[in-house]
Amino acid sequence: MKKVNLAIVGATGLVGRTFLKVLEERNLQIDNLRLFASQNSAGKEIIFKGRKFVIEALNKDSFYGTDIALFSAGSSVSKEFAPIAAKSGCVVIDNSSAWRRDENVPLVVPEVNPDDIFKHNGIIANPNCNVIPLAVVFGPLHQKYHIRRVVVSTYQSISGAGQKGIDKLEKEIQGIQTHDKHRIFSNIIFHPVEPEQPEITNEEAKLHFEPCKILHSFDIKITSTCVRLPFFACHCEAVNIETIFPFEIEEVKYLLANSKGIKIIDDLKNEYYPTPDIVKGKDEVYVGRIRRDTTIENGLNLWVVSDNIRKGAATNAIQIAEILINSEK
Ligand SMILES: NC(=O)c1ccc[n+]([C@@H]2O[C@H](COP(=O)([O-])OP(=O)(O)OC[C@H]3O[C@@H](n4cnc5c(N)ncnc54)[C@H](OP(=O)(O)O)[C@@H]3O)[C@@H](O)[C@H]2O)c1
Repeated sequence: MKKVNLAIVGATGLVGRTFLKVLEERNLQIDNLRLFASQNSAGKEIIFKGRKFVIEALNKDSFYGTDIALFSAGSSVSKEFAPIAAKSGCVVIDNSSAWRRDENVPLVVPEVNPDDIFKHNGIIANPNCNVIPLAVVFGPLHQKYHIRRVVVSTYQSISGAGQKGIDKLEKEIQGIQTHDKHRIFSNIIFHPVEPEQPEITNEEAKLHFEPCKILHSFDIKITSTCVRLPFFACHCEAVNIETIFPFEIEEVKYLLANSKGIKIIDDLKNEYYPTPDIVKGKDEVYVGRIRRDTTIENGLNLWVVSDNIRKGAATNAIQIAEILINSEK
């Protein structure tokens, strides 16, 4: 694998720190590494592979000489700085929602649409952290049975709200009140809404659009209810799928068990099924409770759990980077 000059934007955040953890575990060869965050973190030190790195404040000259920049600093930073980075010749892999709907920006899950990576114009978008595991599961099912409609209910951990979400839950567990509209401890809350679409949350809107873009199939109908619960890691999804073509349930189990990036744990009798405790820290998407929905003709129920910070963010982006690097001679 070729050596790259890599930048991480948002290196002090939950996803940024996980980028570093995943990079330590994998084989990506880094020549020069630069770590960026906000002005507040400038000068802080981070140890990576036994070496000390100093966090730099992001500015428009940050990307000269960089081959690939992994962005995880929120939408407004991505909107402003991803085009600047792309213009200076580096490829941005962006974790925010800023570019996912842009027709000129590929939205990629490497197990499903790796070829889309090469259609980039300097920016590649990493999908939403609920969408990545769904796409990994939908990919083989859609190819074989054609998905007509999906109903998803998410059960999302507070780490999806970044470090500030974790800090809030930790404070509330200790009985310290925060000044938000709702507490998260001992509660269930929804994501925010956008003014132009007040009936569904912004998270639900992502779930309805992004899998269709990844699968190149805008005729799939997806509806969802997304909530955050007071636990720390992983996102869980109860998924009901209606396919156009009929299937045998054993055939579905075999298909998923032999698809890239999926691990099956499905033994309800012995209380063995995917849970956040089991899946935290893993890169695979875990699937269990694989069963027929007998209320419709070709109905399938699944329980999907994935680590939102790893496969839902950092690992997926690094897989994209690896494909880019491996493609260069
Ligand atoms: N958490 C998840 O499950 C998840 C999953 C998929 C995608 N994402 C996306 O990934 C991004 C980061 O999420 P996170 O959970 O890691 O959030 P986080 O823990 O709050 O981290 C945010 C990072 O952005 C940096 N930052 C903020 N403002 C900046 C600025 N003006 N210039 C440069 N850096 C700035 C912060 O630096 P300071 O420390 O200096 O403030 C920090 O490193 C978001 O776009 C999020 O939507 C998150």
